[in-house]
Amino acid sequence: MKKLILPLLIIFNLQTACSQEVITLPEPDITGGISLMQALNERQTSREFSQKDLTLQDISDLCWAAWGYNRDDKRTAPSSQNKQEMELYLFLKEGIYKYNASEHSLIKTKKGDYRSHSGLQDFVEDAPLNFVYVSNMESAGYESPDEITCETLTPSHANTGFMAQNVYLTAASKGLGSVIRGWIDADDLHNIMELDEMQVPLYGQTVGYIKQ
Ligand SMILES: Cc1cc2nc3c(=O)[nH]c(=O)nc-3n(C[C@H](O)[C@H](O)[C@H](O)COP(=O)(O)O)c2cc1C
Repeated sequence: MKKLILPLLIIFNLQTACSQEVITLPEPDITGGISLMQALNERQTSREFSQKDLTLQDISDLCWAAWGYNRDDKRTAPSSQNKQEMELYLFLKEGIYKYNASEHSLIKTKKGDYRSHSGLQDFVEDAPLNFVYVSNMESAGYESPDEITCETLTPSHANTGFMAQNVYLTAASKGLGSVIRGWIDADDLHNIMELDEMQVPLYGQTVGYIKQ
């Protein structure tokens, strides 16, 4: 009986949490997981995901690994000139959320299932979590959309690489699958996410249990 109750409670907790505008995440489990060398050995891209929900603890650990604070004012991933211009969004069944690292919480920015917009590959529709990495070029120190070019976006691409690798390793440590995706429709995402003119979606990254 206990075996049945625990998974039900976890799913109930996630569903209850997702009906709220702000989801306070549990503390990241910074002592758990497999060794770094084992995680590197397990890291790989997966493109077949089961629809099984992630737990709130999984989401907490993944967000923190991607872009959480590991010091008062600095993060788990480096950023060029410490501009910290990256923003982490989550496409969940219940809506689009923005990770608020200082509160370690998720803020709902739009209600509804928009997962199919998070990338141009079929699996994004059903996978439980799709991250979208957004560069906020105003935070990067630019004042006008005219200044957004391939060149000025280069550091944000590099920054995303570090965040995405943190997610890959955390997923590997938890036995989850993941894929970083450049194949997104940035204009569609910009529209759906109701971003401003200084925010640029750069990549998606799917995380979920691997379909058996
Ligand atoms: C910048 C970048 C963009 C990528 N974009 C996609 C993508 O849009 N779709 C996809 O299925 N895989 C994508 N990948 C994943 C690569 O195909 C994958 O990493 C590669 O095949 C090596 O496999 P591995 O990650 O298992 O080592 C991307 C990887 C990188 C680094």
